[in-house]
Amino acid sequence: MKMNKNIILIIVFIFVNSVVLYAQSNLPHLEKHGDRIQLYVHKSPFLILGGELGNSTASNVSYTKPFWPVFKSMGLNTILMPVYWELIEPSENKFDFTSVDSLLADARKNNIKLVLLWFGTWKNSMSSYVPEWVKTNSQKYPRTKDNQNKSQEILSVFSTSTLDADRHAFSKLMQHINLIDKVENTVIMVQVENEIGMLPTAREFSNVANKAFESEIPASLKSFLINNSSKLVPQLKTKWEGNGKKVTGNWSTVFGTGIETDEIFQAWYYASYANQVAVAGKKEYDIPMYVNAALPRKGRMPGEYPSAGPLPHLLNIWQIAAPSIDIFSPDFYNPDIQYWCDLYTVNDNPLFIPEIQLSESCAARDFFLFGHYKSLGFSPFSIENANGKVKTALANSYSVLKLTDSLYLQKTFLNMDGVYLNKGDSGQQIRMGNYLVTIDHELKLPWHSGLKDSTWPASGALIIQISENEFAIAGTGIVATFENIDKNKVANFSSIDEEYRNGLGKQMVRRLNGDESHQGRHVRIVSGEYQLQKIKLYNSPRNIE
Ligand code: DGJ
Repeated sequence: MKMNKNIILIIVFIFVNSVVLYAQSNLPHLEKHGDRIQLYVHKSPFLILGGELGNSTASNVSYTKPFWPVFKSMGLNTILMPVYWELIEPSENKFDFTSVDSLLADARKNNIKLVLLWFGTWKNSMSSYVPEWVKTNSQKYPRTKDNQNKSQEILSVFSTSTLDADRHAFSKLMQHINLIDKVENTVIMVQVENEIGMLPTAREFSNVANKAFESEIPASLKSFLINNSSKLVPQLKTKWEGNGKKVTGNWSTVFGTGIETDEIFQAWYYASYANQVAVAGKKEYDIPMYVNAALPRKGRMPGEYPSAGPLPHLLNIWQIAAPSIDIFSPDFYNPDIQYWCDLYTVNDNPLFIPEIQLSESCAARDFFLFGHYKSLGFSPFSIENANGKVKTALANSYSVLKLTDSLYLQKTFLNMDGVYLNKGDSGQQIRMGNYLVTIDHELKLPWHSGLKDSTWPASGALIIQISENEFAIAGTGIVATFENIDKNKVANFSSIDEEYRNGLGKQMVRRLNGDESHQGRHVRIVSGEYQLQKIKLYNSPRNIE
């Protein structure tokens, strides 16, 4: 029997559409449950145990090749990898994705996911990754001008030709990822640009920039100030309120004069630009997109640090002007992690750490960032350079986290927190249900041979209260004690089970007791060891007759 041509066409149409719809509904995305935002990959929550490649490492596929099995052996499940505008569009509108394809194939072979870093118009403030045909046409792609009217080798945010060229290239990239990856989902997120930030002044001073600076503030900002001013981050709030809470007028009228206002203004335009790039990309392939920031050193003024990037004091500006950017992330090359993370985890911004300086302490900090801030991911920078102690430590801590992630990712645990401790830090007290858990550095034990050492290894732990009397602790170098908050009850250990220790995996389960728990007095993870321990408590009355 001959089938009617129209019926065949309809069947093919339905089939193609359902494949597309199936793929779309499965795409990596963010989901919010309660106050927690998580990354979902193939419909399951996903924890990024990552590492970012050094800037030039992905420019040659054969250079990168030997690293993939190493990354796999270290337990990395994700690599953050640059895609260079200059290499994918060497001549205008001629795209070459062969290197992206090969890198993606190598990642897949090693069961590693990718976060792509779009090195487009800006990379660390500068514009060194734009193609030669952009670099050499400053007429069409204008540079910024500082307050001395001096041109900088940085592309201006006020050029529509530059924006068009960038978003065209980015949308081609995302179209290509859609084509090759919509079912497998090796690419799980994309970073738009890299560490956007204005130098050496807080804003641009070209004629176009000056004109925009003298214009009325954008309508969406005005409406935010009218309706949502309670959501202003402290620095913006002080600035705006101190200037009389005005909602109409140009930037100086609303925020006052000075370099802080210059920075707010420039941030608005950077954010709108990044947003338009993200919108163009998401139109082709809608997966989560984020921007990252270089954190200023203490005491530096706008213009002295890469200004106007997605920094905490500008978070509202970025959130309003860039609604298609899902996450605003800090890069860590300074030690004040808690200070900055507290500032980043406001206004529904989930924490994701795309870069942190590679060192042995990463293998303790990760527990803290996952536990305390429920970070979506953690990624030391220039991961291919991890060797010796750093590599072993990171591999061990990622193995522990991998075993913990079924607990970590579920929505049903009662409480979760994390600590990070160095020599000189006080122990942390954490309230979990009916218990007060005290976690301290293991080297503080009075009999520890390392107590008097001049430096101590960093220690860290993630603690999860699984049910009323059950806990899991993953980490390194800590001692934990449990108290019942009811003074009439004494918390004791029913059992402490070691589920992982230093690369020995699940087969190395020991029941810890005796010396290992100080005869039932505490939970301990020795410094230099990485463990997951499951703890069960019981309570006895304080005054047994
Ligand atoms: C932060 C940047 O985002 C990275 O690309 C890299 O340049 C590091 N700094 C430092 O090397």
